[in-house]
Amino acid sequence: MKPYLTLSLTDVCNMRCRYCPPAGETYHTTHAIFSPEKVLGVCQAAVDLGIRKIRLSGGEPSLYPHLQQVVEGAFQLGLEVHMNTNGLLLAHHLDWLEQVPGVTIKVSLDACTPEVLRQVSGSSRLDDILTGLRLGAQKGLIQRINFVLTRLNADQLPGILALCWELGVGLKIFDMFPVPETTAAWQELYLPADFLPLEGKPLPPNRYTAHFGTPTRELLVDGVHVRVKTCLDGTRYHPSCAACPFFPCPEGLYCLMVTPSLTVIPCRLGEHLFRRCETFEQVKEAIQAGMSLYAESHFAQFYRGELKPIPVSIAACPAEVVGC
Ligand SMILES: C[S@@+](CC[C@H](N)C(=O)[O-])C[C@H]1O[C@@H](n2cnc3c(N)ncnc32)[C@H](O)[C@@H]1O
Ligand code: SF4
Ligand code: SF4
Repeated sequence: MKPYLTLSLTDVCNMRCRYCPPAGETYHTTHAIFSPEKVLGVCQAAVDLGIRKIRLSGGEPSLYPHLQQVVEGAFQLGLEVHMNTNGLLLAHHLDWLEQVPGVTIKVSLDACTPEVLRQVSGSSRLDDILTGLRLGAQKGLIQRINFVLTRLNADQLPGILALCWELGVGLKIFDMFPVPETTAAWQELYLPADFLPLEGKPLPPNRYTAHFGTPTRELLVDGVHVRVKTCLDGTRYHPSCAACPFFPCPEGLYCLMVTPSLTVIPCRLGEHLFRRCETFEQVKEAIQAGMSLYAESHFAQFYRGELKPIPVSIAACPAEVVGC
C-alpha cells in the first residue's frame, strides 16, 4: 500500500481556527505561489510512482484561484481527488465539481451553532457552510464532516452527528494535535477524542489508517459511520525518528505533503526530513524517498494520560439547528 499525497495549495484562509497553525498545512510558508503547472507537475511525479490519490488542502483550497484547472487536470492524470474545505465557499464551486468524476469532499465543521463556530473558527457564517453541505450532499460529493474536538465544542457533537445523519455522510472526530505554534491553544483547549462516551456498533478497521499514521476506530453510531482518531492511541514512526527533537510526535507518518515552494514533507514536524526541490525530477525522488520511509514505519504508543470522560449526550441534539 502507498501513502497518498497532500498538496497544500495556498496559505490563505478565510477562517482562523484556534487549533490551526498559521497557514494550516502549508508548512514553513515562503509565500511561494503554487502555479497550476507546478501542481500538475507534482501530480505527474506522483502518478509515475504509482500514487493514485491526492488530497487538496491549505489554507483554504476553495480560495486557490486555479482550483478547477488543477482538479480537472489531476483527474485527467488518473488521480482520485479529495479536498478538505471549511465549506464557507463550497456552494460556489459545486456546479463544476460535480462534473469531475470521483471528486470527494470533506468539510471541516466544528459547531452547529453560529456562536460556538465563531469561538472556534472566528467565523459565525454557519448558514453558508450548511448551504454548501446540503447542496454538496445532494450531488453525492460529500464524504464526511471533520470535527476537531476541543473544550469549546464538545457539546456540539450530538448536533453534528444529527447533521451527518440528515445529509447521509460520515463523521471523523479528531483530537487536537499540538504543533509549536499552537502549544498554548492546545494546553487550553485539548480534549482527548477517545474519552467521548460514544457507543455504537464496531465496524472493520480502515485500510489506510491500519497502515499509516494513527489507527482509527470505526463505529456505526445512530446510523452514522463515525471514525475516531486520537493521538493517545499512538502512531507510526520511522527508526530515524528516535533522533528527532519532536519524537514521539502525535501525528507520525500519516501522509506525504508538498507545499507551494515544492518542499516534500513526510511528516508535520521533522524538518530534517523536508526536501526542498527545484525540479519535478527532484520532487519525484523526494516522494520516492518518503514512500520508502513509510514502508519502513512501525507503530508505537507513546502516551496515555489519566483523563476523565466528558459527558456528551447524543439525545441532546439541537434539532432546530440541523433540521432533523
Ligand atoms: C489545515 S485544514 C486545511 C483545509 C481546510 N481549510 C479545512 O479546514 O478543512 C485541514 C484539516 O486539518 C485540521 N487541523 C488543523 N489543525 C489541527 C490541529 N491542531 N489538530 C487537529 N486537526 C487540525 C482541520 O480541522 C482540517 O480538518
Ligand atoms: S479553515 Fe482550515 S486552514 Fe483555515 S484556520 Fe481552519 S483548519 Fe486552518
Ligand atoms: S516529527 Fe516526523 S521525524 Fe519527528 S518523530 Fe514525528 S514522524 Fe518522526
